[in-house]
Amino acid sequence: MAKQAISTPVIRRLPRYYRFLGELEAEQMERISSKELAQRMGLSASQIRQDFNCFGGFGQQGYGYNISELREKIGNILGVNEKTGVILIGAGNLGKAVATHLDFRKRGCRLVGIFDRNEELHGVVTAGLTIQPMHRLADFCRQYQPEVAVLCIPKGAAQELADQLLALGIRGFWNFSHFDLRINNPHIIVENVHLGDSLMTLAYCMHSTEKEKK
Ligand code: NAI
Repeated sequence: MAKQAISTPVIRRLPRYYRFLGELEAEQMERISSKELAQRMGLSASQIRQDFNCFGGFGQQGYGYNISELREKIGNILGVNEKTGVILIGAGNLGKAVATHLDFRKRGCRLVGIFDRNEELHGVVTAGLTIQPMHRLADFCRQYQPEVAVLCIPKGAAQELADQLLALGIRGFWNFSHFDLRINNPHIIVENVHLGDSLMTLAYCMHSTEKEKK
């Protein structure tokens, strides 16, 4: 499968396809045409066909897509069965919410450790894991070799911590800290999350729709 040829916008649509197909599976549907899937997802059928062609098709002319097969294939591309080891740093309001409310396993990840520098949090159990002090981080990483770190710490702490984590073998950051990490290694992946950006996009769209109505 030619993974190198896949554009980022297509990759970004895959989790959504995966989620929709999971819902269709739950409705006991077996097959779906690109047209129907497009209608349900608010995309065009040609967009869907184009996206799936990046991975070698999947569908059959006039027959549609087998939902379970398609979901499994997209899941394999996304690596949902790989169970990448993840640690979370910063068990404050956001960190606890992310650890507790997000099903890491469904997304190909396994949350294996939570760390915070605040002594009052040490020993507290969140998402089935005991929050650990930062001085245990290095030994923990050597032992369990997590590959991804979720950063739920304030901006000012992010770069130093990221440098430390890189030295401990972390290869991917899910970065909530609102700080643009400086990492000079093309093999390290940083996914920045800004919930506020999403809200601003919503607000903008609301205003522009209102303006159009006038
Ligand atoms: P919080 O203050 O409740 O939690 C932060 C936690 O990080 C605390 O438990 C603190 O002890 C810990 N911490 C701070 N420095 C640390 C370090 N160097 N090493 C280990 N632990 C450390 O704050 P909250 O509300 O959980 O937010 C955390 C960060 O996430 C903030 O910077 C906030 O601006 C940001 N945020 C980002 C969002 C996004 O969409 N990206 C949404 C909400 C918050």
